[in-house]
Amino acid sequence: MTTRPYIVGNWKMHGTRAMLAEARAIDRAAERLLKVEVAIAPPFTLIHATRKEATLIAIGAQDCHPADGGAHTGDISAAMVKDAGAGFTIVGHSERRANHGESNELVKRKAHAAIDAGMSVIVCVGETEAERDSGKAASVVTRQLNGSLPDGDEVADKVTVAYEPVWAIGTGRTPTPDDIADMHRHIRKVLEKAYGDAGSEVRILYGGSVKPENAAELLSADEVGGALVGGASLSAESFLGIIMAAAEDERE
Ligand code: 13P
Repeated sequence: MTTRPYIVGNWKMHGTRAMLAEARAIDRAAERLLKVEVAIAPPFTLIHATRKEATLIAIGAQDCHPADGGAHTGDISAAMVKDAGAGFTIVGHSERRANHGESNELVKRKAHAAIDAGMSVIVCVGETEAERDSGKAASVVTRQLNGSLPDGDEVADKVTVAYEPVWAIGTGRTPTPDDIADMHRHIRKVLEKAYGDAGSEVRILYGGSVKPENAAELLSADEVGGALVGGASLSAESFLGIIMAAAEDERE
């Protein structure tokens, strides 16, 4: 990849204000690792405070509602997370697809809402273990992409795709680098079909049990433009281990 590797921490439902020290430490260290683009997606409640603590890295949300506003108790609009300091939002994470029944069509509407609000998006896709075992991984991911990606070549530069096999999330298991490369090359083809030439520039991240120990190997797979990191992004020490592996990769 010619662009800088993009390493994004998804804090999921972790973190109170005590976690701001980790964000500060990550931000300070990122100053010395400019070859890598670093971002954190804290819970909604910490977006504003994290934005104030961290001056260099990008801050994003983990989700947004597709509507501009209205009677949606407990939901947060794209404009609200943008106003709190988010520059991007994750949409379609498998935990939201599973826990909240989010459809591809809903994920697409969320992506458009985020882009309309002036943010970029990380659209997550990935197969379950049963789908992989039955040889359906590529077709499942194709269907998710075709249903979830925001429409129009002009939005391609606002889109990042994260390939996160559901069975690799939080399990300590990962696909082989060859399997990741195969899927990422497949995703590239789908992106080029969806967005034409602009599809060749969209970054494709790998996510699922990325740790400092395996980051170099996973990031070196073909078409891997970075990583979406859950558990290992919760401490500055382990997240920085991954960021440093990405910086090394870039030097080679
Ligand atoms: P883990 O890194 O904890 O496996 O989580 C991956 C993920 O879901 C990031 O969005």
